[in-house]
Amino acid sequence: MARMEVISLTGCGIITNQGAYPDRKGEGKAYLRQLALNDDRYIPSLAKVAEMINRHGAVSIQQILHGGRYGGIELDYCVQPSSKKQTLKHFRPPKEMAKAEIQQCVNEHAQAARRAIEAGFHGVEITSFMGYLLSNFNSKFTNLRTDEYGDSVENRGRFMAEVIQAIKEAIGDDKPVIVRLNGVELMDEYGGNTPEECLEFMKMAEKAGADCISLPPTTGFTWPPPRRKSSTSPWPSGRASAIRFWPSGPSETE
Ligand SMILES: Cc1cc2nc3c(=O)[nH]c(=O)nc-3n(C[C@H](O)[C@H](O)[C@H](O)COP(=O)(O)O)c2cc1C
Repeated sequence: MARMEVISLTGCGIITNQGAYPDRKGEGKAYLRQLALNDDRYIPSLAKVAEMINRHGAVSIQQILHGGRYGGIELDYCVQPSSKKQTLKHFRPPKEMAKAEIQQCVNEHAQAARRAIEAGFHGVEITSFMGYLLSNFNSKFTNLRTDEYGDSVENRGRFMAEVIQAIKEAIGDDKPVIVRLNGVELMDEYGGNTPEECLEFMKMAEKAGADCISLPPTTGFTWPPPRRKSSTSPWPSGRASAIRFWPSGPSETE
């Protein structure tokens, strides 16, 4: 809280609180002591964070982070679109999500968003970047499904789009929903998405109702760490960049 308060006193425009996992089982839990948004009982504690950010004039955003391939930290498995093996042994063995589990997970994201708004946050951010669950669906590297949640770009992005739409329904159209996406995946040499496909997911997010796209640092922020720097990145180099189209756009790339 003290650290957040120092940041909010700098005059920051948007402050995003650390990602909270949305599900009761802890499949989304990516690290010990991660925040949870899986129960109404956490609303009062989160309200203290929201109140402090709001008091200092920033837009307060609560991130919802389902770990996917990196999740299940206290379980003996993690969930993914398909059971693509881990490349790093310390992560949990993956289990393919059934369609009913996908629908449940969409609802859990919407309920988590509702709790964040009830706690006093202005909006929420979902995590379709790095190697978290939503990006596991987006990525050709981890999504080997052949049903309507796999194969084409449109099908791979369906889960993300459904999460955005369910959140919008749960919290209303006037509350910002930010989608954090990979600007580049840097896994294309290993069967992952190309930069052009990454751009397609941004367009899909916008179409589904996203108010803002957040990109992690432009050389990519992926796991396992890339073995090369991006030579094909369509984004400017340097520190974190964002394409902002809030309230409507896209207007600029920084
Ligand atoms: C300790 C730590 C925790 C982080 N937690 C999150 C997180 O919950 N959600 C997120 O989107 N990024 C998270 N990040 C990534 C940062 O948002 C940022 O992308 C990264 O630190 C690189 O930016 P920088 O060079 O400005 O630090 C975290 C980074 C660090 C070092």
